[in-house]
Amino acid sequence: MLMLKPHFSTNPQGHLVIGGADAVELAERFGTPLYVVDEQRMRENYRRVYHAFAERWPSVFVCYALKANSNLAICKIMQSENAGAEVSSGNELRNALNVGVPGERAIFNGNHKSPPELEYAITNNVLINVDSFQELNVVESIASRIGKKARIGFRVNPDVETPTHPYIATGLRESKFGFDVASGQALEAYKLASKMTNVEVVAIHAHIGSQILDVGPFEEEAEKLMALVVEIKKSFNINLQFVDFGGGIGVPYKPDDPELKPEQVAERIVTVVKRVVEEKNLTKPTIVFEPGRSIIADASVLLARVGYTKERPGMPTWVAVDAGMNALIRPALYGAYHHIELANKILEKNEKLFNVAGPLCESGDFLGKERKLPATEPGDLAVIFDVGAYGLAVSNQHTAQPRPAMVLVNRGKAEIVRKRESYEDLTRLDQIPGWLK
Ligand code: LLP
Repeated sequence: MLMLKPHFSTNPQGHLVIGGADAVELAERFGTPLYVVDEQRMRENYRRVYHAFAERWPSVFVCYALKANSNLAICKIMQSENAGAEVSSGNELRNALNVGVPGERAIFNGNHKSPPELEYAITNNVLINVDSFQELNVVESIASRIGKKARIGFRVNPDVETPTHPYIATGLRESKFGFDVASGQALEAYKLASKMTNVEVVAIHAHIGSQILDVGPFEEEAEKLMALVVEIKKSFNINLQFVDFGGGIGVPYKPDDPELKPEQVAERIVTVVKRVVEEKNLTKPTIVFEPGRSIIADASVLLARVGYTKERPGMPTWVAVDAGMNALIRPALYGAYHHIELANKILEKNEKLFNVAGPLCESGDFLGKERKLPATEPGDLAVIFDVGAYGLAVSNQHTAQPRPAMVLVNRGKAEIVRKRESYEDLTRLDQIPGWLK
């Protein structure tokens, strides 16, 4: 059995308990596949990141990255913690505003923001991190047309290598994000903006990647961003109000993965910021951090019912559960590891090797290979850990599988926060053209 984190426990029936609720009962009551999110754990995770920075620096702004999970209940929890919102689409921004995040406390990032999305953001005083020269012109012209000053920063590409999956490393020069620093494009962007009348340049932003378990890259990022802050002040006399380091703190998905503590990240970043601010006599900027995964990943599990098992002599036994790459794509897409146990046999010994498959007709449709579980039979309840970030948010309807439901638990209470999709939901937008009728 796994060493469970403190928000989990077990009960005398040998079941897993999350946020005070028995996982087996949740699965019976709400059906499977089922995402379960522990509200208290999310709050603890957020507070830990916030305090890590706030105890070290006087002005700190932590924005929850909605892309990890933008469900309205999740957004509401973050809003009630007074977190800002990092959004990467107009609809994520709409979610944030809908739950009461003030526009001034939202940050809009991304390499392709459409003109209507930009207009929506400018109207609501959202800070926009501009990602290309063309986008800068679009922002300037929309702001001029609607008679508002757009609050902007630039996403820069500091060329920092991160030890993570190539699909989620974003700080390398060849990545599609941000203005190239090495060739001077980043400074050129500030120069152009300093001459524009409808933008107010207040920020610098980078996000070097996600699922980073090493503190080194954050320090390198801080050095590179602060060098730019100094240069921008010197060349254009702009005192940047916000220095935004993006997100990226990884979580230990494997039982023996190292833990990267938010305090370590904050310590390294703040040390660099402090040193440069003192050396160059700068006005103290607000440090911005945009965590997604480290807030919600370990606060959530996916419950999936075992339907069938299949022996393969000399090989791991196949266990087919009712959730696959439709419900959780990370193993198929990134070869990601998510720990799996049986929630109804959580105290039993894991003694046999299994491959855990989903129900889809694809060989890549598995949740875990060569995993040790107790003797497993139809009706058992598999629990997949650390699925809160980019789990339900990236789920899909492959083979016309309805997306799973999500339930929020809080000290033993449980309530659905995302309904299970129905057949009607799956076909609601389809139409058969007149000539086929
Ligand atoms: N800020 C920006 C600009 C980002 O692009 C991201 C994530 C974050 C903040 C939040 O990063 P986090 O703290 O969650 O690492 N689907 C992938 C992850 C993609 C992350 C994209 N950007 C996965 O399942 O691992």
